Amino acid sequence: MCGIFGYIGKKDAALILLDGLATLEYRGYDSSGIYVSGAGNVKTIGAVENLRKIIPKNFYGTSGIAHLRWATHGEPTERNAHPHTDCAKSVWVVHNGIVENYKELGELLSLRGHKFQSSTDTEILAHLVEEEMKLTKEFPAAVSAALKKVRGTYGAAFMHGGEPNLIVAARMGAPVVIGCGTEENFVASDASPILRHTRHVVYLHDGDVAIMRQNSHHIQTLEGAAAGRASHTIEWDEAQVQKGGYDHFMLKEIMEAPGVVENAIRGRIVTSGGLAKFGGLEAVKDKLRDVKRIVIVGCGSAYYAGLVGEYMFEECAGISTEVEFGSEFRYRKPVVDDHTLLLAISQSGETADTLEAIREAKRKGALALGIVNTVGSTIARECDAGIYNHAGPEISVASTKAFVSQLTILALVTVFLGRQRNMSLATGREILAELTQIPVKIDKILQQKDKIRKLIARYSSFRDFLYIGRKYNLPIAYEGALKLKEVSYVHAEGYGAGEMKHGPLAMIDENFPTVAIVFQDSVYEKMISNIREIEARKGPVLALATEGDNDVSALVRDVLFIPKTLEILSPILAVVPLQLFAYFNAVEKGHNVDRPRNLAKSVTVE
Ligand code: F6R
Repeated sequence: MCGIFGYIGKKDAALILLDGLATLEYRGYDSSGIYVSGAGNVKTIGAVENLRKIIPKNFYGTSGIAHLRWATHGEPTERNAHPHTDCAKSVWVVHNGIVENYKELGELLSLRGHKFQSSTDTEILAHLVEEEMKLTKEFPAAVSAALKKVRGTYGAAFMHGGEPNLIVAARMGAPVVIGCGTEENFVASDASPILRHTRHVVYLHDGDVAIMRQNSHHIQTLEGAAAGRASHTIEWDEAQVQKGGYDHFMLKEIMEAPGVVENAIRGRIVTSGGLAKFGGLEAVKDKLRDVKRIVIVGCGSAYYAGLVGEYMFEECAGISTEVEFGSEFRYRKPVVDDHTLLLAISQSGETADTLEAIREAKRKGALALGIVNTVGSTIARECDAGIYNHAGPEISVASTKAFVSQLTILALVTVFLGRQRNMSLATGREILAELTQIPVKIDKILQQKDKIRKLIARYSSFRDFLYIGRKYNLPIAYEGALKLKEVSYVHAEGYGAGEMKHGPLAMIDENFPTVAIVFQDSVYEKMISNIREIEARKGPVLALATEGDNDVSALVRDVLFIPKTLEILSPILAVVPLQLFAYFNAVEKGHNVDRPRNLAKSVTVE
């Protein structure tokens, strides 16, 4: 949801900023822009390639700020692209977030003679700083004073034409990372554009202001008090944010699934005791014994992972569980007490709605845990304790490997909580032993990649799809449909197979295919009956079935076979072919798979 990047050092800032923006492109691609001190400002509609083409020769300076926009206020036009500036064209700003009181601030500034060039909320920030500069000649102090007047969210970087060796960055509700290099410093929305320069980073907290120069960075609060923030070393390397020979990040990330599961379980299994262990839960493990109810919150795919978690926790750990969209939880009056565990799931660790749900639950006394992929992210920091996915950076906007990792960790947490309660040693051991087999089984599914690609020819012309499943694989039907929608722009609905007769069956005919997840598990017979009902209405069916299940092959038009596993773990396998199906469908249609229209990777606005 918008990406900012800034550089201050001795090198060619434009080159560094453009390369960094290309890495950040998954955060927004409606428009892009750059300001380099001493060289000026260039902006354009679309993403970095367009910007690169129009950068003039000799656009040289050693500090600058740049931006990728995911439009919230104002059309994605060149005029609305960042960086924005003030009347004197001295103050420059790039911003991720929303200035909620932009109207009233704009009216006040207009009364003082300010003229606005764009219809964005961000431009207000530049004019506010210009106004404050009249009172204090100090640029960092003017930025802080201006930001104190702002209601809303920002991850922002400011420069002043008269002070080329200075970037002021600030954070309130939108992520900001400072990269600390040798004789150079960086600021960005996340670490991905910084990694090729340095692995040493500092995460800003809400209310922090960073004053950055070539050789130093100083972090203080908006009030000017020093804020000591620890430096972290990022484990990811640059290769992980490159495509590594694949056409798209989405495919690369799907293919990474076996390794992602290995990383999620590494060091977390105690085979002999049938136990799962997490360093991040040590401090709260006694409190977890007292938990009577779990509320899982997440958005999009993370929410669907949570739905699988609900089946796992209730069936195998015996704990009453509910799953909520972050966006709903915070506006209801949720019943939460100190025996409630709030479990937040988020790849980015920055999703605004999930974050607000955590804050609300904590206010009400719940213990908050996170399953988060992005180390040092806001959700990771705000939860009382948590578990990192260690899935590596997920660049494609559509979540794939992170989802696989979330399910894996949920299975581990089920064993962890279950063994604190009534789960037997044998069951704990059985689940954990089978988890260690999952990477090999995913590999077998990935080997069917070409078969799935070829299947697309038979399905790419359909405009509507239904995805059906039951029990553990109902959420996978939802997730499969979401993947198809977001990358192929094809209408797809996930539905409980048992609910078909209560309405959706009416839509079925030869032009309305169904993807059915029908494994030899506790709901197998029911699923078979539901598929027969669809077949009887001439609906084409593509089934995911257990390896060797010839009855299903005899029944449906197409089958993809999935290795046998425990029912509780079957969603981890089932989702992989559905991710590939959506991917190849989108490729066939010529869509920009990694950057679906209208979407952004990290949703830091409500
Ligand atoms: C779908 C997708 C989104 C995210 C959702 C939550 O493919 O990527 O639905 O799952 O925006 O994001 P995180 O997990 O970062 O909180």
